[in-house]
Amino acid sequence: MKEQVLAIVDELKRLKGTGVEHLYVSGEAIRSLKFLKKSEKAEKAEVEEALASIPENIRSASIDDFNKVLAEDPDALKAKIEGKQVPSFAKPPAVSLPEGDKQSRWNALRDLVMGCTECNKHVRAGYKLVFGVGNLDADIFFCGEAPGAEEEEQGEPFVGPAGQLLNKMIKAMGLDRSQVYIGNIMNWRPEMPTRTGNRPPKPEEMAFCMPYLKAQIEIVRPKVIVALGATATKGLYGQESFKALREVKGEWREFDGIPTIATYHPSYLLRNSSHSDKRKAWEDLLKVMGKIGLPISDKQRGFFLK
Ligand code: URA
Repeated sequence: MKEQVLAIVDELKRLKGTGVEHLYVSGEAIRSLKFLKKSEKAEKAEVEEALASIPENIRSASIDDFNKVLAEDPDALKAKIEGKQVPSFAKPPAVSLPEGDKQSRWNALRDLVMGCTECNKHVRAGYKLVFGVGNLDADIFFCGEAPGAEEEEQGEPFVGPAGQLLNKMIKAMGLDRSQVYIGNIMNWRPEMPTRTGNRPPKPEEMAFCMPYLKAQIEIVRPKVIVALGATATKGLYGQESFKALREVKGEWREFDGIPTIATYHPSYLLRNSSHSDKRKAWEDLLKVMGKIGLPISDKQRGFFLK
């Protein structure tokens, strides 16, 4: 725990050294810093320095206030400070797919997304919108939350470290990435005031992109959807449908009439090396394999048991 917090401290120092003045720090990181601050063993000076890297309005607030500030739209917050009006987010688009085969419908949808004014408005100069990829006859539709740094560079979902792990998970199921479909709730990387770090998409961003996701699902008509992580699951089941992922994880529900299961996001599995979480995620994938009739070997059944 202490090592992880000190790693946060180092990163804050590094960012400060590069001239970063404002930074959005996750509630979890702030709680960890506060915990360390309280801990008797902590190097107080180091923690004080880290806290000093956080803007005053955040530093002096309670944890609840931190989380309120963190939940605020960075543009809205900036506009509020500058006393400006923030334009409201565009209404979700009405998508109507043309007649034709899967490929031509998918091509038309991709063109629509690539030309979407609202989507393009949020893409950093020199980076790309990210649309779903994969087999249009796939039985499994993996749904992530939003592109990260590598994805916005390459214009493809799940190509960074989380994507490498997702590929391994797919392989462990006896499949290949080219046999599944991979999409995201959102088509652009959520904007941040800094180059580093990611934030989850906001409900209005997710709502805007939802018709594009639904249209991809309508084209592929997979046998199952796998929601990766809490944010994707909230996007599919509704923002208020649960508080903690564990309430819905591993249970079959439906999205647009398609059996849907929520599991851990590969990024979470990368960060959290607990063997039991890996097993829990693998059990969800075993359920998926069972649902679509994939053969399951004894070896596969036993993954992460020892
Ligand atoms: N995380 C996601 O949820 N989607 C991506 O495409 C990459 C990382």
